[in-house]
Amino acid sequence: MPPEIRKILFTDDVIEAKVTELAQRISDDYRDKGELVLIGVLKGAFIFLADLSRKLDIDRVVEFIGVSSYEGATSGAVRMIMDVRADIAGKHVLIVEDIIDTGSTLKYLLHTLSSREPASIRTCAFLHKTEATVTDVPVDYVGFPIGDEWVVGYGLDYDEFGRTLPYIGTIDPQ
Ligand code: IMP
Ligand code: MG
Repeated sequence: MPPEIRKILFTDDVIEAKVTELAQRISDDYRDKGELVLIGVLKGAFIFLADLSRKLDIDRVVEFIGVSSYEGATSGAVRMIMDVRADIAGKHVLIVEDIIDTGSTLKYLLHTLSSREPASIRTCAFLHKTEATVTDVPVDYVGFPIGDEWVVGYGLDYDEFGRTLPYIGTIDPQ
């Protein structure tokens, strides 16, 4: 049986208003800095990145990176499955994530991408499970803090269930 949506946390209207607000803040922060390289983390961030990138009013380009958690290994082990195409040396970089849970993925990405000597590197996540985060990792732009519950929709999935829902909701995993 597929899981069921238990509760809608954020409707499409609420999501859109928050993305607009984040885009405004990011645009203001980068306006005088030149081109911003947005690096979306696949697959979860593809919808958020599509919306965010279209609401920015500064020079920006879009890149993607793919990572995977090692299955069966100790939690926190992350590996790259698809790298960005662009050389980010000397560029202003913003990592765009769907959600921060333990923080391991973001920590790995910050470590890996920082070694390529970008001009600056910041992080943006639409959702942040603040209580679940165990690594000390900076999240510069956050849409909403949420509790430690599994959520789907707006790019987020549970075994691919719910990824393209227009809202974000919690599920009852079976
Ligand atoms: P972290 O490395 O533990 O911070 O996990 C980050 C990744 O786990 C996210 O980029 C998501 O892909 C996935 N993830 C964590 N929590 C959820 C959730 O509630 N719904 C869907 N995906 C999640
Ligand atoms: Mg992800």
